Amino acid sequence: METKKWIVDIDVDKKNSYQQLKEAAHYLQRNEVIAFPTETVYGLGANATSDAAVAKIFAAKGRPSDNPLIVHIAELGQLLEAVEMVSDKAQKLIEAFWPGPLTIIFKKKDGIFSSLVTAGLDTVAIRMPDHPLAIALIRAAGLPIAAPSANCSGKPSPTTAHHVWEDLQGRIAGIVDGGETGVGLESTVLDCTSGEFPIILRPGGITKEAIERVIGKVQLDPAMMNEKQTPKSPGMKYTHYAPNVPMYLMAGNWEKYNELIKQKRQAGLKVGILATAETSKYYDADLVLSCGERNHLHTVAHCLYDTLRDFNKSNVDVIFAETFPKDGVGAAIMNRLEKAAGHRWLESDPRNN
Ligand code: TXA
Ligand code: MG
Repeated sequence: METKKWIVDIDVDKKNSYQQLKEAAHYLQRNEVIAFPTETVYGLGANATSDAAVAKIFAAKGRPSDNPLIVHIAELGQLLEAVEMVSDKAQKLIEAFWPGPLTIIFKKKDGIFSSLVTAGLDTVAIRMPDHPLAIALIRAAGLPIAAPSANCSGKPSPTTAHHVWEDLQGRIAGIVDGGETGVGLESTVLDCTSGEFPIILRPGGITKEAIERVIGKVQLDPAMMNEKQTPKSPGMKYTHYAPNVPMYLMAGNWEKYNELIKQKRQAGLKVGILATAETSKYYDADLVLSCGERNHLHTVAHCLYDTLRDFNKSNVDVIFAETFPKDGVGAAIMNRLEKAAGHRWLESDPRNN
């Protein structure tokens, strides 16, 4: 299949931009699958009401069919048509964070979305993206748009149209290129359907602290802390974001790892280090890549996936990654890093590795 590319100016009101978006929207109306930018990562969108369209998303990504998709909307009316009810807490969250990187799980009405979107669950995940091109595209299509991240299943999510191209060129009908995404990590997924306290199923751009300021206590899905528990969010149980070579996490005080790095190199391994702007100078390794500034964690969120993809283009045999405090957006960064590393931590004492 030929993959069309629409290069669209972030200013949707520019005549040429709008024309391009309308053409992309026609593809969605014809049940084709296209990638588009959101404020978090690029999404791979299709008409959420059509089985045929949604099936193409799963096929293009190689995604397991028991992993449900997020429905993207541009108007609150689209939410009210699709869900049984909006609780008071959900209402407050919508007022505070939509449009924005917070996905909320609702009890769904039957017969609105393709059952492939919800993987047979009686709930549906919905979000309103905070990106002018995403909103204009959804409006122009006049449809709710199911969209997972636009990467091959298991790979780091795409933060540029080029990442999407690398993964899915020839497998999807088109890509709306609107430049780099902002947040860089996927949305926070919050289940508001279960029990007294909503549960964060996936940490993301909207932090636990920010949510609690609006609705009080929320819980973290215990499976996020313990790899042995079955996650409530089906997607969280799969390997994700994994680089092509093994990755290990380093606990604080990075300089102490130089001895271990030296030993690995003497054993003939090419060692890559995922570092930060502040720390990259401390390492003596084959490739040291900075994924942003330790003192500005949003820059790490923004660059993380791109840096993981850069390692895939290098010839390192193993990656050691720095780690971050789990407050604020650090929770989302560490969730992705732990998955990318398969929860493997290094001991600074070389005798224990
Ligand atoms: O930022 C984002 O959320 C991006 C952009 C494109 O919007 N999308 C995204 O989609 O990350 P995806 O498919 O890669 O992740 C969706 C997550 C998965 O972990 C999935 O299991 C969970 O949301 N999910 C979807 N529907 C659910 C439901 N009804 N109950 C529980 N978890 C659900
Ligand atoms: Mg994904």
